[in-house]
Amino acid sequence: MPERFLDQEGQLRSDILDPQLLVYGYGRRSCPGRHLAQSSLFITIAFLLHTQDILPRLDQFGAPILPKGNMAHRIVSHPEGLEFRVRVRSRQAETLIQSDCAESV
Ligand code: HEM
Repeated sequence: MPERFLDQEGQLRSDILDPQLLVYGYGRRSCPGRHLAQSSLFITIAFLLHTQDILPRLDQFGAPILPKGNMAHRIVSHPEGLEFRVRVRSRQAETLIQSDCAESV
């Protein structure tokens, strides 16, 4: 639900902190690879979302195991107990994934 980061006018909410302000360090020794890292992450995530559905894992009765919404608050916080399965979106997406894999070998 990416729209949760937007306010009523469709602008980025001012109370949302930008993770980039911290994760790449700051000052004179901040990460010089941040732009490459951001672009790589963007293209990787876009490719995943374009070609695959990320769905909740199913239990033994075929019911989805939904996350409880608990967060692990460590150096980087992340959702806990997030069990998922991945489903290729289409035959065309499958061909795209295979050609991408073949190119990277
Ligand atoms: C998600 C990916 C990455 C993260 C989270 C990350 C994070 C960091 C952090 C926290 C630092 C230390 C900054 C400081 O001391 O204040 C750093 C330094 C550095 N990073 Fe990255 N980095 C990433 C990717 C990359 C990439 C792709 C490259 C190169 C292509 C790179 C090259 C460097 C170099 C050379 C330094 C040392 C800078 C210095 O000491 O002057 N990093 N990075």
